[in-house]
Amino acid sequence: MTENETGTAASSRTEDQAGMLFNRLVKRRRHLGKWAVRTGAGVYRLYDRDIPEIPLVLDFYHNDREQAVSGALYKRPYEKDSGEEESWLCAMKAAAASALGISAENIFLKIRRRQRHGDPLTSKEFGARYQKEANGAFEMVIKENGLSFAVNLSDYIDTGIFPDLRLLRKIIMGEASGKTVLNLFCYTGSFSVYAAKGGARRVDSVDMSSTYLKWAGRNCALNGVKIWPERADVFRFLERAESEGRRWDIIIADPPAFSNSKKMKGNPLGGVFDIKRDYQFLLSGCLALLKESGKLFFCVNARKFNLDTGALLSAFEHSGAGKNLSVKDISGQVRDEDFKGRRMPVCYVVTK
Ligand SMILES: C[S@@+](CC[C@H](N)C(=O)[O-])C[C@H]1O[C@@H](n2cnc3c(N)ncnc32)[C@H](O)[C@@H]1O
Repeated sequence: MTENETGTAASSRTEDQAGMLFNRLVKRRRHLGKWAVRTGAGVYRLYDRDIPEIPLVLDFYHNDREQAVSGALYKRPYEKDSGEEESWLCAMKAAAASALGISAENIFLKIRRRQRHGDPLTSKEFGARYQKEANGAFEMVIKENGLSFAVNLSDYIDTGIFPDLRLLRKIIMGEASGKTVLNLFCYTGSFSVYAAKGGARRVDSVDMSSTYLKWAGRNCALNGVKIWPERADVFRFLERAESEGRRWDIIIADPPAFSNSKKMKGNPLGGVFDIKRDYQFLLSGCLALLKESGKLFFCVNARKFNLDTGALLSAFEHSGAGKNLSVKDISGQVRDEDFKGRRMPVCYVVTK
């Protein structure tokens, strides 16, 4: 095939894919649009690699003034140069804009890179996920279950709220009345806002990023609630809180799958957290701070993750922190309409 023929074949394939994406988005929007307004979901998952050769994830954001999409491209199943990738992304963006009836300027597509344990990571590469990507911030305030959250669709890979944890946030709200809550890896504080709105007596929120703690403060101001933010490496925080004899009724642990920030240097994990290797360490640290009949909510956003309940129970028994522990997988309960049949974080509730 001549170079020209290859080019033509590639662009017609892109055209076909744009058509497929258009049809899929029209169908999904028809299915979820009314549901989202009825249930008060200001952001929902519209497309999640439904068509394998279009490995995009697209979330739809709306409030009474504007609508926008934030999404990410995962690895495409064949080689391509960056120029071809750029034009392909533009074609998908145009298809999404016309399918949803919104301006292409309100569609933000980013490229997701996977972080794997053992890779010679540099701090810059680590930051890829959480550092500013662009400078023309596209911000909105969306509503979810009557609460308000500030989102930024342009500057980061993640936007400030995870739609897949919507039902778990509601469960936390329902459990929080009169309780003390510890929200670990709190990011922009969405769990904390729900807990505070649910009548929690006190909500401590720990994250090592000052950017996100400021953002959490903004979300609290938007909802007229107060939380106790703390900037710290969670693993050092757990040690210190244990030595100070602090205890909570509810603990939320929603860690990243991998983390190795400079701020973790010299911490009890040697500066690198890998959820599959270190989750027992994290859970034992949390259980030591949990009051009798307290609840630990643990979310995992990693592929093929299995919680070894037996190992957890025996570690707990040996820790002397108590006798009875129940572990329940509640992933099915937290799967909402827009995540039916989709990859979801697994969620457990561990009761002491
Ligand atoms: C997946 S996000 C958590 C999402 C959050 N629970 C929510 O519901 O929106 C992971 C967060 O962990 C924070 N983080 C990563 N490693 C950490 C560590 N060692 N100590 C404290 N925070 C950490 C990041 O800054 C980020 O805000």
